[in-house]
Amino acid sequence: MNRFIIEGGNRLHGELRIPGAKNAVLPILAATILNRGTSIIKNCPNLEDVKTMQEILSSLGLEVQRDNQSIIVCGKNLSANAIPESLAGKMRSSIVLMGAVLGRIGEIYISYPGGCAIGPRPIDMHLSSLRKMGAEIDDLYKGILHCKVKRFQGTEILLDYPSVGATENIMLAACLADGETIIRNAAKEPEIVDLQNFLQELGVEIYGAGTGVIHINGRREIEKDITYSVIPDRIVAGTYMACVAATGGELVLTGIDYEPVSSIAYLLRNCGVSIERLNSKNMRIKSDLNLKAIEVIRTSPYPGFPTDMQPQFVSVLSKASGTSVVIETVFENRYGYVEQLMRMGADITVRERVAVIKGVKRLTGAFLDASDLRGGAALTIAALSAEGTSIINNVMHIDRGYEAFEKSLSMVGAKIKRE
Ligand code: UD1
Repeated sequence: MNRFIIEGGNRLHGELRIPGAKNAVLPILAATILNRGTSIIKNCPNLEDVKTMQEILSSLGLEVQRDNQSIIVCGKNLSANAIPESLAGKMRSSIVLMGAVLGRIGEIYISYPGGCAIGPRPIDMHLSSLRKMGAEIDDLYKGILHCKVKRFQGTEILLDYPSVGATENIMLAACLADGETIIRNAAKEPEIVDLQNFLQELGVEIYGAGTGVIHINGRREIEKDITYSVIPDRIVAGTYMACVAATGGELVLTGIDYEPVSSIAYLLRNCGVSIERLNSKNMRIKSDLNLKAIEVIRTSPYPGFPTDMQPQFVSVLSKASGTSVVIETVFENRYGYVEQLMRMGADITVRERVAVIKGVKRLTGAFLDASDLRGGAALTIAALSAEGTSIINNVMHIDRGYEAFEKSLSMVGAKIKRE
């Protein structure tokens, strides 16, 4: 079991380049299934979930190779239709394989997806949408789904909620469908736009991503050799922004557009952090540690404040002067890490989806357990800003979303090592 040992109280200074986005690369890798040609995907972060997706593609018979930051998928032979349970159960994104595999070969066996323990995370919208497009889905024994379709039929789908995964699944299913599919109340996240851009490169007629309505005109077949570079990770960028807010210091983040992190920047400014746009891809974050509470923060789908930044913000606010209120509207159970912050001296009360954070003067180092990805990042932020030494166990959760986290943080002055 890997753990981080962190000596808190060091300001961060320097420059960090933001790697490719996990939540963009996973659906794009799933989309390579649709392509009989060769897809070269650049800027792929080296993360556990990405490795799992590579293994899934290989298990389906595709030829997959990694070459530094690129993943090359040759889509000629798709010889299997069962996703090994041991792989699908590791991450939430495995569910988007349904749309792609069914679209290409008409049958899939897949277990319910895994991922972070942050609420029930049902897949009802995925299933009802694919059924509306013509799929027959049976829940076999032990949570294995068996799905079949002759060819998806283009149709109009109104989502009850702008689910990121359901939007991606329908987009993938629609690429090889008969006729036009229209998704209304679609998710608007930048990762959805990235998936659209990739599909357009493949020659799919698709438009509207980034708005609430996406149109896709299905094709008979896709066979194209393409090279595509994945967008940078806005949540990794936001996490480094939160790190410097909490520790004090000055960081320049490179390779990241401002727009996808604008809600994070807006709230950090309200907290008293300075954020300066240096040019279209670089920004400087400065914190003198005079942090102020924020009256209310509510998580919501993009372009609102992302739920994936909620834990990191609670860490920052735990040392801000005054009382902040955070309302989690996306997931039901995303405060698992709070108990750990309280061990460090944070004053936080959680009732259902609401956390009330009374800022304290200092946090102190403690023995901690990371129980999920962003919660683990939040504990790292708290430990970096605390007095004394902290040990964070179970950092494999953090490894699912942050490439070489401790190395990047060490490069900019943090005292953090892995054991
Ligand atoms: C994606 C992101 C995750 C992020 C989340 C919200 C990936 C791999 N993960 O997750 O990091 O936190 O978006 O921005 O991209 N829901 C249902 N039924 C469904 C589908 C979803 O009730 O069929 C609910 C979920 O339980 C949750 C909400 O809708 O409460 C949002 O989920 P969704 O947008 O689908 O998130 P994911 O795609 O799982």
